[in-house]
Amino acid sequence: MTRPSADNAVLARDSGASLTIAGARRAWAEKFRAAGIESAELDARILVGHALAFDHAALAAAGARILGVEENDSIAALAQRRLAREPVARIVGCKEFWSLRLAVDAATLVPRPETETVVEAALAAIDAGGARSRKLRIADLGTGSGALLLALLAELPTAFGIGTDISRGALRVAWANAQGLGLPRANFIACDLTAALGGAFDLIVSNPPYVASGDIAALAPEVRDFDPRNALDGGPDGLDCYRAIAATVAALLAPGGALVVELGSGQAQAVAALFAAAGLAPSAPRPDLGGVPRALIATTARMGRYKGA
Ligand SMILES: C[S@@+](CC[C@H](N)C(=O)[O-])C[C@H]1O[C@@H](n2cnc3c(N)ncnc32)[C@H](O)[C@@H]1O
Repeated sequence: MTRPSADNAVLARDSGASLTIAGARRAWAEKFRAAGIESAELDARILVGHALAFDHAALAAAGARILGVEENDSIAALAQRRLAREPVARIVGCKEFWSLRLAVDAATLVPRPETETVVEAALAAIDAGGARSRKLRIADLGTGSGALLLALLAELPTAFGIGTDISRGALRVAWANAQGLGLPRANFIACDLTAALGGAFDLIVSNPPYVASGDIAALAPEVRDFDPRNALDGGPDGLDCYRAIAATVAALLAPGGALVVELGSGQAQAVAALFAAAGLAPSAPRPDLGGVPRALIATTARMGRYKGA
């Protein structure tokens, strides 16, 4: 038996030919692979499942079922968006981060797996200061979908947090994510990085825009054409937001508090120097799973002593 091609999948309706769910997965995976999409099989599985409202198990169990015309059309509509290089997370409207299901939309960055390194580093900094159950105040600068703040609040049961962003659209998504995850300990405010913040924070985290403006054109189309420019553009050398954070953050940290930021590839030394010049003590950066130095912790002078410990 010959396998149907993706073109056949789209044509099945016109020719009266029948296509199974498994056949549609295979056909679209082939088409994605031919278009140079690396995660072709996974993407086809997710999009077929999403079009049919089937989870992984249901999709596997129903592989031999013949698709109806409308089902076939729904799958084709989603698959065509992927062929135009729209990321799967944007097509389905959500992304898993730190085992939390986060809604994303055009106003938000799609949270990246490597950003979980910032969560790990932040939790290590908190653990160095005492029990996770103590009262903690957290700020997340450039919160986007709320990924960092919500992951931390999920791990720190009595912590309170505030996320800032210049994008009101992103803040609406972050707020809805906090409500959906049952994390009302998160608040959000529209401002430039730390501008509306006061008081002492035990932990400040940030994954700021850090791509040098001139490098954006060469990014993968999934990033360049779909992530908001605000979430990517870090100025001429990519370091604009780190400079702005360094200028204000020391005054906002509690004694023994920690700043943890995500780093772009090759930025560790420059960012550590900025924070050291601001009177903070940077540690060796923590690598992500690919070995790239990804999270930098910088502490105030009284290491390991957190307010409320
Ligand atoms: C790289 S994204 C990170 C989003 C989220 N924290 C994450 O890790 O998935 C950077 C975020 O910073 C926001 N942003 C950019 N410049 C900002 C500024 N000056 N003040 C506040 N937020 C800013 C963007 O709108 C975007 O949501």
